[in-house]
Amino acid sequence: MNKIDMSVDLNGLKLKNPVTVASGTFGFGEEYAEFIDLNQIGAISVKGLTLKPKEGNPPPRLYETPMGLLNSIGLQNPGVEVFIKKYIPYLRQFDTKIIANINGANLEEYMEMARILDKEDVDSIELNISCPNVKDGGLAFGTNPAVVRNIVTEIRNCTTKHLIVKLSPNVTDIKEIALIVEECGADAISLINTVAGMAIDIEKQKAVVERKVAGLSGPAVKPIARESKVEIVATGILLLCAKALAVVRPILIPVKEPGPFETAIKSISSIVIFKLLNKFFIIGINF
Ligand SMILES: Cc1cc2nc3c(=O)[nH]c(=O)nc-3n(C[C@H](O)[C@H](O)[C@H](O)COP(=O)(O)O)c2cc1C
Repeated sequence: MNKIDMSVDLNGLKLKNPVTVASGTFGFGEEYAEFIDLNQIGAISVKGLTLKPKEGNPPPRLYETPMGLLNSIGLQNPGVEVFIKKYIPYLRQFDTKIIANINGANLEEYMEMARILDKEDVDSIELNISCPNVKDGGLAFGTNPAVVRNIVTEIRNCTTKHLIVKLSPNVTDIKEIALIVEECGADAISLINTVAGMAIDIEKQKAVVERKVAGLSGPAVKPIARESKVEIVATGILLLCAKALAVVRPILIPVKEPGPFETAIKSISSIVIFKLLNKFFIIGINF
């Protein structure tokens, strides 16, 4: 059987195929290794990292809505040092690219993390300035154009690594933010982080999660990602790999024969490919 060439170049980050897992949906890979061969994935964006270990928000952290999932994880993670010592060596066993998703409570923390990871064996840094589930940093950074300009400029000065900036849909004009991010030297953008949402517990007459606002993901947000005004070349909620490939193929590689790739991944649930000013695209897929 002929191998399909599905390699893509995300403006300097070369992936053997365009399948990536969205940060926070796949842990550090280890958690999913018994379900899927990690060698099959183009890149893994690891769970959002912070400078120090973070416990995250109190439960309940998840709430299922009819069309998507509300989460309020609050960036629970073991901290960047554990990631470096434990998970980089773990992930390096596999033929996949490592994207380190970074989060800070303030600019200094973001910069510190970028400086630390600049010296480590990661393929890309994904600057998360769009998390709705934390009090400091996150969404508060990603929704203000002046703050976005400042943080991306500063982070660009801290690292020569490939830099992805993850944007929030919770803004009036995401394109304005995307253009700023590009101007400040990011190599790629990642769309979209969760949409701020809320669920009410009628019995208790209060919001389900303690922080009240949580992040909505899943089928409900696909149309919002599509409407991002960034040129999307493919998007879809895909239950089967075959369907994913049906979307990807005509765009990337007009291949007729089925290859090993499509038999490897059984249950892809969402895929987004986009392009802005001829520069970049990225795909988010949850299993
Ligand atoms: C449980 C959960 C945890 C998440 N944690 C992170 C995170 O740590 N960092 C991040 O940038 N995005 C995080 N996200 C957002 C996802 O990476 C993705 O952007 C979002 O879920 C929208 O894509 P989807 O609808 O395909 O899931 C998380 C999403 C979920 C559902």
